[in-house]
Parts: sequence; C-alpha cells; structure tokens
Amino acid sequence: MAGNLCKGYFFSLFDYKTEKYIVAKNKRVGVLYRLIQLCLLGYLIGWVFVSKKGYQETDEAIQSSVITKLKGVSVTNTTESGLLVWGPEDYGIPPQGEAVLFVVTNFLETPNQKLGYCPESPKVLDGHCLEDEDCEEGKLVAVGHGVMSGRCLRKDENSTGSCEIFAWCPIERKFKPQGPLLANAENFTIYMKNFIQFPKFKFSKSNVLETTDESYLKKCRYNEELNPYCPIFRLGDITSRAGHNFQDMATFGGSIGIMIQWDCDLDKGYSSCHPQYHFTRLDITNKTITVGFNFRHARYYKDAAGETYRSLFKVYGVRFNIMVHGKAGKFSIIPTAINVGSGLALMGAGAFLCDMVLLYLMKKGTSYRERKFEGPRNMKSTSNENSVEDKKDAEEQDDLTS
Ligand SMILES: *[C@@H]1O[C@H](CO)[C@@H](O)[C@H](O)[C@H]1NC(C)=O
Repeated sequence: MAGNLCKGYFFSLFDYKTEKYIVAKNKRVGVLYRLIQLCLLGYLIGWVFVSKKGYQETDEAIQSSVITKLKGVSVTNTTESGLLVWGPEDYGIPPQGEAVLFVVTNFLETPNQKLGYCPESPKVLDGHCLEDEDCEEGKLVAVGHGVMSGRCLRKDENSTGSCEIFAWCPIERKFKPQGPLLANAENFTIYMKNFIQFPKFKFSKSNVLETTDESYLKKCRYNEELNPYCPIFRLGDITSRAGHNFQDMATFGGSIGIMIQWDCDLDKGYSSCHPQYHFTRLDITNKTITVGFNFRHARYYKDAAGETYRSLFKVYGVRFNIMVHGKAGKFSIIPTAINVGSGLALMGAGAFLCDMVLLYLMKKGTSYRERKFEGPRNMKSTSNENSVEDKKDAEEQDDLTS
C-alpha cells in the first residue's frame, strides 16, 4: 500500500500541471481587465522604459575635477589705501583656481600696523574701563585684539575708556560698507573647466565645447539660450540667474552655488552628452543678521630697519561654490529583463484583482466560485486508497472537458 502511494507520488512528479481557466462572459469585468492591462502597459512603456529609461544600466559615481580662472580688472581709490589696481591675483582668493573661490567686491584696509601699544577698539566690551584697575596687566582681552598693559585710557572724567593693549596697532576702525568698492566686479568672468569620468562605462568628457575655432574661448560668454556650451561666465549673469542683483550682494558679500549637472544618455553618442548649469544663492535666510560674507587677511612687510609691519584687509565678497553632479546610462540586457519581468508580474496582479471582483463583488460570484474552487469529488471518502483513485477520476474528467 505504502509502495503504491510512493509510486503514485513519484510518477506525479513528472506530470505537467497546466492551469485551468474559466471563461466568464462578463463584459464589465472583461473591460476592467483590459483597462488594467492597458494602464500597466502604458506605465511599463511610457514611464519605465521611455521616461525612466528602464532598459539602461546607470552610473552615478561621477568623477570630476574643476579648474577655474578669473579675468577682469578694477580700480579703487580710498583714503586708507589710495589708488589701487585689482587684478585676478588680488581679488581672487585663493589664487590657484579651485572649485570654491572668493571674489573680493568690497574691502577695508588697515595699513601700516606695527606691534605696539594703543587703545582697544570701543566695540570690544571686554576692553572698556573706568580706572587702571579694570585693565589688569597681562590679561588677554576676550574676543579682542591683544594683551592689556595695565593702563586705562579715557578722554575725560565722564566717559568710559578703553584699556591700552599691546597689539598690532592701530586697531582696525569701525566700518559699515556703503556700497561695493570694486563696482565693476559684475563684469569679471570665471572660466570653469570641468573634466568628468564615468568609470563604469570608461567615458570621459569636459565641458569645454570641442571646436576648431581658436578664438571661440576668447569671445564667448555663457548664455542659456544662445551659448549654452560656453564655459565662461560673467559674474553678474551668475547672480542674476540665481535671482539676485550683483550690486546688492557685492556690498556685504554672499555665497552662490553653481551646479554643473551631467545627464548623459550614452546610447545617443558622445556628442550629445552636455552639462547643464544651475545657480542658486546659498546664504539666504529670513534673518538679516546672517546676510553677507567677509573675512580678514594680512599682508606682511619689512621696512628698511628690518621691522615687520602689516596691512590688514577685511574683505567682503561673493563666494562661488562649484558642485558637479551627474549620471550616465547605457543599454544593458539585465535591467531590461528585470523591468520586463516585473511588468509581467504586475499584469498578474491585474488578473488577481479582476478575479476578486468577479468572485466576490459580482452577483453571480457564487457560481463562479463553485466552478473555480473545486474540492475533491467525494468528500466523504477519507482513505488514502480512495484519494489516489479520485485523482485518476479527476484526470479522466479533465481530459473529457478540455
Ligand atoms: C560692464 O560692462 C558693460 C559693457 O562693457 C558696461 O556698459 C557696464 O557699465 C559695466 N558695468 C560696470 C558696473 O562697470
């Protein structure tokens, strides 16, 4: 008996079982099924394949390097500094052409500072005093400029004074920018060279248009419509594309982000892979106290006697931050197969949904249910022997019906 059973299972291993379909002559469910199929087909072709390029393998690990070069010249005339000519080596900080660069648009120079004794700036609260005892000798002025000498310097009996300090003297004066000193900085240009690679596809390119016209780079200026592949940008154009007026930003300084976006469809060939540029202002908030960007730097000199002195510059300007993003796609059989497969599986889900509607929501659902879920013919028989024979019976009947 047990042997028979084993044999039965063993041979049934090689039976091919096909699914059984019930044709439901129900127009509503039929239309619903076709609609679902149509939607899924539309999704698969329109969204997955055409819009999202589901047939492509992508590489988002873009490798890139950016080199910048500033051009332009400006002249300033101030009481402290006199007449000054500003070239890229003066207003571009740092000068080596990095992806983050700062362009000076406004400045305050404190020339001829020497180490010596002078009063602390009245802006520094810690340096205020009424008598010499307030200025303890050797004490460092917190967030100040130097070390106290022990003397309190007061104009008269009624005013608060400032401690005398040992520091780079004279101390920088108070400065409230009125307008940009390098007014024509908006006409300066940045030449951005960007080299990129997609290592997965061994693809490399640069944003400089490949042309045989040697004077192209001398003449061209980036313009979204007329000249989208020119890598030379006027600073005024950059800020206006970011939605801000350059002159407004130039007084107190600011920060601009330049996004270089590479979106390459390598199936379309080398020449159709071009960067797109986007510009945004990075330092905007609702609170005016955070507006602006400035820092200080000093230039050191020695006079004929060998004594060191320095020029302190407080510079305001616009910082440009160049960021590169990108991805590339190329046809590959594996993502294609995966997307086709998942599409077909979704079709199956559509059939399942229609089944549910047909079997449980329609009026005639019960009769369909009876036909779909067939139990064993003889529910009363429980012995193993009978069930094997039942199977045989069922097989014969199926042969008849099909
Ligand atoms: C920038 O250059 C243009 C054309 O050369 C000139 O008309 C304009 O006055 C310049 N802007 C500034 C602020 O100097």
